[in-house]
Amino acid sequence: MEFFLDTADVDEIREIAAWGILDGVTTNPSLIKKSGRDFKTVVSEIAAICPGPISAEVTAMDTEGMISQGLALKDDLPGNVIIKVPCTPEGLAATKFLTSKGIDTNVTLVFSASQALMAAKAGATYVSPFIGRIDDTGADGMQLIAEIMQTWACYPEITTKVLAASIRHPTHVLSCMQLGAHTVTMPAKIFRQLMTHPLTDRGLDGFLKDWAEVEAAGNA
Ligand code: G3P
Repeated sequence: MEFFLDTADVDEIREIAAWGILDGVTTNPSLIKKSGRDFKTVVSEIAAICPGPISAEVTAMDTEGMISQGLALKDDLPGNVIIKVPCTPEGLAATKFLTSKGIDTNVTLVFSASQALMAAKAGATYVSPFIGRIDDTGADGMQLIAEIMQTWACYPEITTKVLAASIRHPTHVLSCMQLGAHTVTMPAKIFRQLMTHPLTDRGLDGFLKDWAEVEAAGNA
């Protein structure tokens, strides 16, 4: 079971990494744009904060371009950076090549079990089905995770990890884990939601008030 952050905000990554349970980080061109920072600088900073896999995405559309961007990113960035490739025929060929060179990959923008299976066949390290964006269309994103995990169960030789992405709420995370997804990547807000409960806060408040009275009575 792996928990990744889906952000390029280094302050958020530092905050959650301090909890001691962060396994990796995923970025994409939109998250880099949102950060307003230089791509390689921000990914290098993230890679220094979190030792787990950090996904950096290629933007070329052709296989050769994806391969050359992927190799350049591996040369320029820290060793824990892995290459995110779109789920297209060209991306599949790039994944196969990068895998043959021992480079870890994350095949992204996956919306069907057949796409996930093709990415696994190409040797992807991770495959990223986008749950929330499927839900947004009125379909059931969790059904896709169930189909992928059902398919994976038929082929124990598949080593590709299912990385559930486009997570919108804590229930998405729990449901993915109950279906056996290997990894979930989520915004910092959902990490916080997973860890907080009003009854925990209320209970702590009561304990601290009572303890203050114990101290005031000289009984601590
Ligand atoms: O990592 C990309 C994926 O998680 C996208 O999420 O919220 O833009 O659908 P979202």
